[in-house]
Amino acid sequence: MELDWLLASPLPERLPRQRVLYHRLRDAILSGRLASGTRLPASRGLAASLNIARNTVLFAYEQLVAEGCLVADRQGTRVASLPARPAARSATADVPAGLQGLSTRATAALQPEPGREAAALPFSPGVPDFGAFPFRSWRACLERAWRDAGWRQLGYAAHGGEPALREALAGHLTSVRGLAVNAAQIVITSGTQAALDLCARLLGDHGDTVWAENPGYLAARVAFGLAGLQVHDVPVDAEGLSPSEDDWRHHPPRLVMITPSHQYPTGRVMSLPRRLALIERARQSGAWIIEDDYDSEFRRAGPAPPALFGLQADAPVVYVGTFSKTLYPGLRLGYIVVPQAIAADFARATAQATRAGQGIEQLALGDFIRRGYYTAHLRRMRARYAARQAALRAALREAFGPRVELSGGEAGLHLVMWLPPEIRDIEVAKRAAKLGLGVRALQSYARAPMTCNGLVLGYGNLEEGMVSESVRRLVVAVQSQDTDKPKNCH
Ligand SMILES: Cc1ncc(COP(=O)(O)O)c(C=O)c1O
Repeated sequence: MELDWLLASPLPERLPRQRVLYHRLRDAILSGRLASGTRLPASRGLAASLNIARNTVLFAYEQLVAEGCLVADRQGTRVASLPARPAARSATADVPAGLQGLSTRATAALQPEPGREAAALPFSPGVPDFGAFPFRSWRACLERAWRDAGWRQLGYAAHGGEPALREALAGHLTSVRGLAVNAAQIVITSGTQAALDLCARLLGDHGDTVWAENPGYLAARVAFGLAGLQVHDVPVDAEGLSPSEDDWRHHPPRLVMITPSHQYPTGRVMSLPRRLALIERARQSGAWIIEDDYDSEFRRAGPAPPALFGLQADAPVVYVGTFSKTLYPGLRLGYIVVPQAIAADFARATAQATRAGQGIEQLALGDFIRRGYYTAHLRRMRARYAARQAALRAALREAFGPRVELSGGEAGLHLVMWLPPEIRDIEVAKRAAKLGLGVRALQSYARAPMTCNGLVLGYGNLEEGMVSESVRRLVVAVQSQDTDKPKNCH
């Protein structure tokens, strides 16, 4: 048999010959070039005719026999009888480019833009001050965790999270956030995204309606859509989520996702009457409220408004928190707090739905909280972020004057700068990106018919020394609007 074609084209330099021979034989078998039943030459003969070592051929043959592509029998080696190759699918043609092969559900749920890295450009929202991370105390906690736990921590972490972390966190949430929870009500997750995914799958059924804030946190919509829920957009106004009677009647929710402490992205704080009204209506319609307590740790003045979770004993609320902003996003640790009544079932379901990891980081974090490092770090960061916000406000006022309205400064790591209608936020954000700024357009978080026009300006990682230069570039991005107009436009 003529098998020169096997090694006809030049061999890739990095790959061993045996792998090349294996791949070429396998491709030939799967494509039908070598038909079922075809006898291959004996290894010695093939090695001689291809001028390669016999072991090279033996390796390729043995691998293909192990995979079921070849059969070794008394007479030698032949091509196995394989099922006919199905005709190439053409159904992918109607799927948007880049999403081939994904389920209809995934295709519908994903955002049009690819996922972003958490870039640390000036004004990138949601990026904490990496320069102020308490490396020494954190490293000491990690070292203690390894020393005390050793190899026992190489397996999966405890279901629902390490008890020591859950205990420490329960104490922290009780004393700092007034939640009065115990460790059994807490499930440790790998951040908010994992928490939302879990809530969607454990509290919602396929096809159920989930309300999302509009404008709102886009990653939450993705988590809900991927879990097979129908996302219904509900507008946000100055007091927070503002559902109409029509929303309650015609789109009754199973889940309602809110960020009441510092709505993302508008930065508004949900009023107390709204909180109470939402709990009442959710209770009547059998809905769960998912309270993402985003940014509550970084209040500028006074304590954070009471969490919905703690407002009423039997409120249908699950509370979600993260260490992504208070420590660092790569830590991938967050938590869900559930009412006592469902705690045991929720923990049991979580144990079956997920595999827990990061046991060492969890132990270190428990230690970090218990020793008071966490509260001290939060206190330091609050002061630091307040100073950054003040510097940014002053620079924006000086650059733009009273023309622009700033809001969202009560908490968190970002401000919203509202723009007059003739300056389009999407265009400004595009120009700002070219100038190396991480500004995001408010409109990019909104869904029709909601329109909003402003810039989300993260300052968490914006050093004071960088403020004036960053604002100078922002002025260029805002003011150079005319340059993008078509040349023949009058
Ligand atoms: C509203 C909101 N919640 C939570 C998070 C944090 O998510 P994770 O814990 O998955 O990092 C973010 C990140 O930017 C956010 O914008």
